[in-house]
Amino acid sequence: MKNIRVSICTGTACFVMGASEIMMLEDSIPEDLQGRMNLEIEGVSCLEKCTNHNRQKAPFVLINDELLENATLAGVIDALRTIVEEEE
Ligand code: FES
Repeated sequence: MKNIRVSICTGTACFVMGASEIMMLEDSIPEDLQGRMNLEIEGVSCLEKCTNHNRQKAPFVLINDELLENATLAGVIDALRTIVEEEE
C-alpha cells in the first residue's frame, strides 16, 4: 500500500486562501479510497511559496513532496486518487 504524506501549509496566506477547508481532509476521504493508502496528514508552517508574485497561488499543499498550487479539498482528493490508481 502506498505511503502518502500530505503537508498542508497553515501559514497566514494559505490559511486565508482556504487551507482551513483542506485541513478537513482526514474526515473527507471518499469511501472508495479508504483503506487503499497509508495516509499521513500534517499541518506545516509557511512553506515560503507565498512570495509576492506567487501569493495568488495559495493555498499550497505538498503531496509526497509534489507542490500543489491553488489547492482545494477536492483537488487534494483527486491527487490522492491519481496516486492510488497509478500504484494499483
Ligand atoms: S503561508 Fe503558505 S506558503 Fe507561505
